[in-house]
Amino acid sequence: MEKDSIEIEKVYELEWPGWSLENNKYGEDFDAEARVRMIETGRKLLPYLLDYIPDSSKNYLEIGPFFTPILFSDEITDTLRKDRQVSFLENDKNVISWLTDRFDCSVLNLDINATTFSDELKQEMMTQFGVHENFYDVITISQIVNYIDYKLLLKNIYPFLNTGGYIFINNVVDYGIPVLFSEKRPKSNQEIINAAIALGYKVKLQEELSKTFNEEPHYRLILILTK
Ligand SMILES: C[S@@+](CC[C@H](N)C(=O)[O-])C[C@H]1O[C@@H](n2cnc3c(N)ncnc32)[C@H](O)[C@@H]1O
Repeated sequence: MEKDSIEIEKVYELEWPGWSLENNKYGEDFDAEARVRMIETGRKLLPYLLDYIPDSSKNYLEIGPFFTPILFSDEITDTLRKDRQVSFLENDKNVISWLTDRFDCSVLNLDINATTFSDELKQEMMTQFGVHENFYDVITISQIVNYIDYKLLLKNIYPFLNTGGYIFINNVVDYGIPVLFSEKRPKSNQEIINAAIALGYKVKLQEELSKTFNEEPHYRLILILTK
C-alpha cells in the first residue's frame, strides 16, 4: 500500500462490507482517493440542508445513502428534531444491513431501475407507513442520478413528497463509476431542472458549484425542489 493511501485511510473510514479496497473492481474510479472525493462532495449538501429544512420536518427519506448517510451526519443529528423518522431507499444488500445495524431507520429495499419499481414503491409505502401520498418532508438524492433512470425516480417520489416539502439534489453529470452508469442518466444540469419542472416540481433553489476535484467533468448541481 502506498504511504499516501495509508494516511488517507487513517482519516477516513474507507473499508465497507462488499466494497473492500483490496477487491476493488473499479480501479481508480473507486480507489481510496475516489472514495474520499465521494465522501467530501456528498457533504456539499450539508449547508443547504441546515439552511432550508424547517424545524417542523418529521419524515425524511435519503435515496442511495451508501455507507455515508448524510441524515445521520453529526451536523444533522445535532440540529434536527430528535423524533425525526428516517427512511433509506437502497438496493445494495451490504449497505442495507450496515445501515440497519447502526441506525434507527426504515429501509425501502428497492431497485430504482427495476421495471417493477413504481408498483413496489407504492406497495412498500403502504405496507410500512400506510400512506399513498404526502408523507416525506425532506428527500435527499445525492450522487446517485448518474446510476438510474432519474426521471422515473422523480416521477415516482412526487406523490410521496409533502406539499411544501423539499427534495435536495446533489450531482455532477457523468461523474462517478462509469461502468455502472445508466443510459437514462441526465446529460446536463439544465436537463434535470427541466425534467423536474415538467413533472410538476417548483424550483426553490438552483446553484452550480465550481469543481472541487479535477476529476469532476462538469459543474456540480445543487437543486432544491418543492411542490
Ligand atoms: C455514489 S453512492 C452515493 C452515496 C452518497 N449519497 C453520496 O452523496 O456520496 C450511490 C448510491 O446509490 C445506490 N444505488 C445505485 N443504483 C441504485 C438503484 N438502481 N436502486 C437503488 N439504489 C441505487 C448505491 O447503492 C449507493 O448507495
